[in-house]
Amino acid sequence: VNILHALNDEKIFAPFFRGDSWRAWRVFLAALFALQLTPEQREIFQRHTGRSAPPGVRPREAWLVCGRRSGKSFILAVVAVFLAAFRDWRPFLQQGEVATVMVIAADRRQARVIMRYVLGLLRGVPMLAQLIESETRESISLRNRVAIEVHTASFRSTRGYAIVAGLLDELAFWPTDEGSAEPDAEVISAIRPGMATIPGSMLLCASSPYARRGALHDAYRKHFGQDGDPVLVWKSPTRDMNPTLPQHVVDAAMEADPVSAAAEYGAEFRSDVESFVSRDAIAACVAVGVRECAPVPGVIYVAFVDPSGGSADSFTLAIGHRQDAVVVIDAVREVRPPFSPESVVTEYVELLQRYGISTVTGDRYGGEWPREQFRKLGIEYELSARPKSELYRDFLPLVNSRQVELLDHPRSVAQLCSLERRTARGGRDSIDHAPGAHDDIANAIAGLAVGLGGTPGYDVSGDWIFGPDHSDGAAEKAAWVRRRILDDAGAPPWAIF
Ligand SMILES: Nc1ncnc2c1ncn2[C@@H]1O[C@H](COP(=O)(O)OP(=O)(O)O)[C@@H](O)[C@H]1O
Ligand SMILES: [Mg+2]
Repeated sequence: VNILHALNDEKIFAPFFRGDSWRAWRVFLAALFALQLTPEQREIFQRHTGRSAPPGVRPREAWLVCGRRSGKSFILAVVAVFLAAFRDWRPFLQQGEVATVMVIAADRRQARVIMRYVLGLLRGVPMLAQLIESETRESISLRNRVAIEVHTASFRSTRGYAIVAGLLDELAFWPTDEGSAEPDAEVISAIRPGMATIPGSMLLCASSPYARRGALHDAYRKHFGQDGDPVLVWKSPTRDMNPTLPQHVVDAAMEADPVSAAAEYGAEFRSDVESFVSRDAIAACVAVGVRECAPVPGVIYVAFVDPSGGSADSFTLAIGHRQDAVVVIDAVREVRPPFSPESVVTEYVELLQRYGISTVTGDRYGGEWPREQFRKLGIEYELSARPKSELYRDFLPLVNSRQVELLDHPRSVAQLCSLERRTARGGRDSIDHAPGAHDDIANAIAGLAVGLGGTPGYDVSGDWIFGPDHSDGAAEKAAWVRRRILDDAGAPPWAIF
């Protein structure tokens, strides 16, 4: 049984593929399994692959760059069930091994969507329903020594699995801030080697496009439109794959936000979104192996907080000091929701006191509330004058010139790497986290570094420090010297100089 037989067979998948609307998907599936195409199908193939001829052999891996609601997740489920039920993997298994069809989705919700599709296909076909041996929320075991498992992007323990198919969904949207800046590339390099030893195994990655980076864009850049390439890339707007999606849905999205709709429904990679800072530049600033630096007597420490109310975002804190021209991050804290803001403030104040800090800087979040909490416990709260985008903008030269030393803390590194710059037409660039990602730690680090590195002054060893703008800060220096003279003369702190 090949995939097209299965799609056309009333006793198998035909009830799921009624009507003419599945035409383009049939062509994709035929190409995926190197089946013959009719002249009309060849045209569809050419349009979406940029190739002149379909591959004569099965591609080693395939990538779908298709719009939202184009049917990607459903087709991944169809391929998963087909490979699980209609292939005999037993000749390639070791004693006691189970062939695993591994589906990896961006998050739990999307994993559940695929699991529903998989179960629907299996239970909806009597012949396949009989194959089910047992099932849990994430896994279905079949009687033929095959299991279909659904995981989220944070899944790493592929060791010990015999993976016969890796089906990766929406990988342009995998969260980059869970301690890994490149989860897509990491998962692929974890599963690819094991699959290479199993004949007929398949890596199939599907996603709506987003920014021009990551594994999806790499695959598109390298393999789209290349005749004879063993990696097949198929790119298509939503309605070309799923004409049942009403045009007015696309039109409304276009009207609301043309740039985002061109990506979501038009399957065009966004050119207005780019990585804010390169991974290499961040990596060069990391003090390898240093998780935290304990307070050193005599050093003057500074802190920046990014408060949160405890339901949606993390409440973060960064502590650091200045060492010659470099801003050193000494400690980073994050409390993830849900939490009680009062108890987080209490915990943070204890830490601040250990570093001899009596003033924190933070943004305006929550109005007076966080300020009051800190004040109650004896810590002054200063409002950061600059919005987040501006902090990040001023943080960049510090990173690029290695004037900041970061801790070896995977979550902060991942958050900094996943920041992105968006150019708005006629407006200023904004810098923020990627969709679905977080930047609370990055925000505290940038706020701290910019605050410390942003102004010229004397560092702990008494050396004069230049500003990041390379100005010599002559006015500040003169003011500082006057202040010293007044202090030495015993003038009260309010003395005007
Ligand atoms: N070509 C098509 N004809 C009819 N229905 C389709 C077609 N493609 C997709 N669908 C339906 O559209 C819905 C969305 O599909 P899904 O796979 O979840 O989209 P995606 O993952 O691309 O966002 C599903 O109910 C699916 O069955
Ligand atoms: Mg989907």
